[in-house]
Amino acid sequence: MSGKPVCIGDFEEYAKTFLPKSVYDYYRSGADDQESLAENVAAFSRWKLYPRVLRDVSEMDVSTSVLGQRVSVPVCVAATAMQRMAHPDGETATARACRAVGTGMMLSSWATSSIEEVAAAAPGGLLWLQLYVYKEREVAESLVRRAERAGYSGIFVTADTPYLGRRLADVRNKFQLPPNLRLKNFPGSDLAFSSGRDFGENSGLAAYVAETIDPSLNWEDIKWLRGLTSLPIVVKGILRADDAKEALKIGVNGILVSNHGARQLDGVPATIDVLPEIVEAVQGKVEVFLDGGVRKGTDVLKALALGARAVFIGRPLLWGLAYQGEEGAKEVLQMLKEEFRLAMALTGCRRVEEISRTLIRRHQVLSSKI
Ligand code: FNR
Ligand code: LAC
Repeated sequence: MSGKPVCIGDFEEYAKTFLPKSVYDYYRSGADDQESLAENVAAFSRWKLYPRVLRDVSEMDVSTSVLGQRVSVPVCVAATAMQRMAHPDGETATARACRAVGTGMMLSSWATSSIEEVAAAAPGGLLWLQLYVYKEREVAESLVRRAERAGYSGIFVTADTPYLGRRLADVRNKFQLPPNLRLKNFPGSDLAFSSGRDFGENSGLAAYVAETIDPSLNWEDIKWLRGLTSLPIVVKGILRADDAKEALKIGVNGILVSNHGARQLDGVPATIDVLPEIVEAVQGKVEVFLDGGVRKGTDVLKALALGARAVFIGRPLLWGLAYQGEEGAKEVLQMLKEEFRLAMALTGCRRVEEISRTLIRRHQVLSSKI
């Protein structure tokens, strides 16, 4: 890359040349043949925008709220594990960047910075905890309690990972954390995924998940979590209307339409394509969010036009961190904010509430054969 990044792809190009191969591969990969990975991005292009013109867009407000908290832009940061592989400041840099831009960060259970460290790095920042439920329930409970004590504003419980998806590059690389890093939320060494263990001919992380994470997780456990905390709960990884309705019955506060960045089950549809049916099923009872493939301001606008309250970004943030730590993460968020502002202006929306379903239609893919 020559010169300053002007789009998210430029940040990725930098990260690709800068990061060790096994780290870049882990961050970038999707599951199996990575069909859904490409689809998450490609599907956005099939949705076309129908702008309203002559609307006086000289004054704009792109802010909104997420689970009752104000954000300067409907773009938040999704949980991505092990951010110190991208930059020595890792998750603490992300938290500071989010606070500077005025948006929220979802911290991974598998962060290389602890719940408390991240809260201390950005006092007053908007933080949520992404929860992985361990076979030992006390581990999950203690993560929730620590998030409550540290002032986190909600729990995103990941529903799509009873086992880790098969990411071929990670299997080939026998992916592990570098020796200087560990999963910082776990004081002992058993759950810290430290390097040096022999995980056999496999992705070390896949082996770690099989060993520690509870594949029996089911709706009863979401009820258990509901009873455990009064923090807002969002179920992360919903792709079907019936599952969304099931979550509503339990009294969750939000649904995150996600296919885990296409890292779990390959062959699933793009999240933007299933968003409308989930929004319809939820009928405005709770907020619906989307992640997967969001790479530019028009993607954000499209998701909001189809009914998402806000979107979350995974990989783009990692590319920003790799580029320049806190500054790079901030640049990524600022860029998406400016792109979103422009997309709103060019579709005649002055406030987020003016973004409506009339702005967007799905076009059929035309065959190139005559
Ligand atoms: C993730 N994701 C994820 N999800 C989760 O619930 N807990 C986690 O620890 C992680 N870790 C993680 C690491 C990396 C490297 C990636 C790329 C993704 C999934 C993440 O929260 C989100 O769903 C996707 O990243 C969104 O897709 P995009 O924006 O990366 O296309
Ligand atoms: C991943 C896990 C950490 O996607 O969620 O790698």
